[in-house]
Amino acid sequence: MRIGILNSGGDCPGLNAVIHGVVGAADQLGWEVIGFRDGFEGLLPPGDYSVLKPKDTIGILKLGGTILGTTNKGHFAAKVGKGDIAEVPPEIVAKAKQTMEQLEISALIVVGGDGSLTTGLQLYREGWPIIGVPKTIDNDLSATAFTFGFDSAVSTVVDALDRLHTTGESHKRVMVLEVMGRHAGWIALWGGIAGGANVVLLPEIPFSFEKISDFINDRDAQGYHSTLVVVAEGASMPDGNIVTIDANCAGEVRLGGIGERVAARIGHLTGKDTRACILGHLQRGGSPTSLDRILGMRFGVMAVKLAAEGAFGRMVSYQAYHVDSVLIEEAVHQLRLVQPDSELVQAAKAVGICLGD
Ligand code: F6P
Repeated sequence: MRIGILNSGGDCPGLNAVIHGVVGAADQLGWEVIGFRDGFEGLLPPGDYSVLKPKDTIGILKLGGTILGTTNKGHFAAKVGKGDIAEVPPEIVAKAKQTMEQLEISALIVVGGDGSLTTGLQLYREGWPIIGVPKTIDNDLSATAFTFGFDSAVSTVVDALDRLHTTGESHKRVMVLEVMGRHAGWIALWGGIAGGANVVLLPEIPFSFEKISDFINDRDAQGYHSTLVVVAEGASMPDGNIVTIDANCAGEVRLGGIGERVAARIGHLTGKDTRACILGHLQRGGSPTSLDRILGMRFGVMAVKLAAEGAFGRMVSYQAYHVDSVLIEEAVHQLRLVQPDSELVQAAKAVGICLGD
């Protein structure tokens, strides 16, 4: 038996741990694993791939990125901008299928986020033996309580806040940190709480600059002259606009820049010295945390188990300390957002964090 694996969409700490899990579990069954390069593109004839043996995965657990490469562009991209979903054209699917047949791949493990799993679902519906593994640092897929990469991203946010804290205190400044989180504010909320932020702004909770400036002025009056603000890149400005780098680019709109806007407005309203910092891809790069290594490895092992059971069209899922699976069709297009009235948000407010509302 020979199975394939590919990583698709943005990279994420822990992808190599999934590969490690897949290759190890498959080897135990006497199966061969083919790793396709650069996502689904590696399936296009003549095929760009290599055979992965356990010796090829030695030492990769600790590596960020993916040894297979990945892309969120190309012939198989499901997201084509402004939230639109595209089907992969039949001629491209037919070409990729040639490679699958030539290599006699009997299961294809697709490690990806919402867009890549949408592509996986299309292929499954066209008869391909697809197993999905969820991947997103944003941790916003509804069918899994956690995805690997999120914990690593949060650690990077916390490290950045620890650093901003000392320089902000020294200068009595308001320091604004812009973090990833396209639709969901999980990274901002978890990172903000763990990193001791005073203000956390999320896509899910509309904020007002008056509320934020009153909060900062109150802090000043109490003798706290420095304030740490975390803002998710996908949060809306009070006028409802999302701040983008390039709204007209191909594929998904590139978000970025809200940190500077927030800093400028807070500076204007409070008269305080403010500085902004965009954390950007530092959150995606680098070594995975131990939690992400273990989660990724377990996801890989479960993917092989699903392949052995012939449970195609399913996606690995983590729920309540247990790795299991759900139908891919129940997993895509359904984001898990921060609920404004949730216990976590209430806990943040209880310890004095301002959500801007
Ligand atoms: O979806 C994951 C994510 O990290 C988002 O938080 C971010 O907006 C996007 O990917 C960045 O993508 P790219 O690497 O294409 O700039």
